[in-house]
Amino acid sequence: MNGARPGDGGDGGGSRWRIRAATAADLETLARVAASDPHGSWTRQSFASELGLAWSNVQVAEDVGDGTVVGLLVWWLVAGEIQLQNLATRSDRQRRGVGAWLMAHLLEEAEKLGATRIQLEVRSSNVAALALYRKLGFEVVGERPGYYDAGEEDAVLMDWVPTKQGPGR
Ligand SMILES: CC(C)(COP(=O)(O)OP(=O)(O)OC[C@H]1O[C@@H](n2cnc3c(N)ncnc32)[C@H](O)[C@@H]1OP(=O)(O)O)[C@@H](O)C(=O)NCCC(=O)NCCS
Repeated sequence: MNGARPGDGGDGGGSRWRIRAATAADLETLARVAASDPHGSWTRQSFASELGLAWSNVQVAEDVGDGTVVGLLVWWLVAGEIQLQNLATRSDRQRRGVGAWLMAHLLEEAEKLGATRIQLEVRSSNVAALALYRKLGFEVVGERPGYYDAGEEDAVLMDWVPTKQGPGR
């Protein structure tokens, strides 16, 4: 992640993005950004449901320059563990550091909250996400064979443990 930290907007100096909690006014935008994932199933209604869950955090990354929502992050804090529910970068803003910046934010949150680990599951074919998570120090801890698409694709289970690695270290 090129040393990018949540506070520096991914460019190591000024601030390119800022993160904020999503609101009902963001539902259309969230659904549009989620549609960047060709395998994604999250709809406007999915995000509306998340906004109603006390344990769910729905956040957006905004471009500081023009206010465009460039990415989204959804995570749960349950029993002291963080479960990543969704991460996506708007399709025309991918490969510019947004995903890494959002995940760095999550790693810092985990440390601040004293979470024991961050758990996620990802399609075995999702090369981009797997590379991103590995780069941040997530480790493969298991798999769920045939988890997606009625048995067609496996889920890879990954964990990140705050005491082992820290954001950007
Ligand atoms: C996965 C995703 C969020 C990455 O977001 P992004 O903003 O493009 O990622 P970044 O620019 O921060 O990339 C960070 C690192 O991730 C990896 N990566 C990102 N896109 C990649 C790609 N297409 N191929 C291979 N590696 C990739 C690289 O290691 C990259 O570092 P580098 O650019 O220095 O090589 C984005 O591809 C996306 O929205 N995909 C659809 C939704 C999705 O699959 N979400 C994950 C569900 S588990």
